[in-house]
Amino acid sequence: AMPQAVNLPDSLDQAREAALQCRRCTLCEKATQTVWGTGAQGAALMIVGEQPGDREDLEGKPFVGPAGQILQQAMAAAGVDPAATWLTNAVKHFKFTARGKRRMHQSPDRAEIDHCRWWLGLELGFVQPKLTVALGATAAYALTGNAAPMADRQGRIEQGLHNGPVLVTWHPSYILRLTDAAAQATARADLTAALYEAARRA
Ligand code: URA
Repeated sequence: AMPQAVNLPDSLDQAREAALQCRRCTLCEKATQTVWGTGAQGAALMIVGEQPGDREDLEGKPFVGPAGQILQQAMAAAGVDPAATWLTNAVKHFKFTARGKRRMHQSPDRAEIDHCRWWLGLELGFVQPKLTVALGATAAYALTGNAAPMADRQGRIEQGLHNGPVLVTWHPSYILRLTDAAAQATARADLTAALYEAARRA
C-alpha cells in the first residue's frame, strides 16, 4: 500500500476529525464508526480501554456498555470524576466476528494496535495527562510497548511511550468474565484501588 500523507492535526478536535476518516487498518471496513475519546481536554487523568464493544460501536462513545458500567462503578467508588478524565481506547474501531445476529468481540492484533497508536499518541499529546491508566493487556501494550502478561503488572506503574507514567490494571470486561464470585470481587477491588491511586497521583 502507498504510505499515507501525514497531516499533523493541531488540536484534539482536528485529531478527532481525522480519526473519523481513518483507513490505517482494515477494521474500519466492518465497524460502524470510529469511537474517539470523551471527557475533559485538559484532564490530569486519562483512562484507556481496549477497543469499542458492540454498544460503543453503535453509539460512538467509549464505555457505554456492560464493561462501562463496571468501570463507572469503580470510578465512583474511587472518587474519580468522569468530567475531569479523558476516557478512550487503544483501538478505535470495533473488531468482531458475526455469529448469527450477534457480533462477537475479537481482540485486536499487534499490528492493529500499532497502527492505532498514532491516534492514542495524539490524544496523549493534546490532553497531556499526568498519569494514564491502562485497562488490560491491549491498553498496556499500546501505552508502554510491553506485551508481558497482566498478572505481574496489575497495580504497577510503568514508563509510558508518550507523556507520563502508566498505571496498569484489569480490564472491566475481564472482571465481568470471571465466574468465581470471590475472584471477581478481588479484581473489582484491584480496579477500584488502582483508580484511587491514579486519582491521588493525577
Ligand atoms: N471495552 C473497552 O475496552 N472499551 C470500551 O469502550 C468498551 C468496552
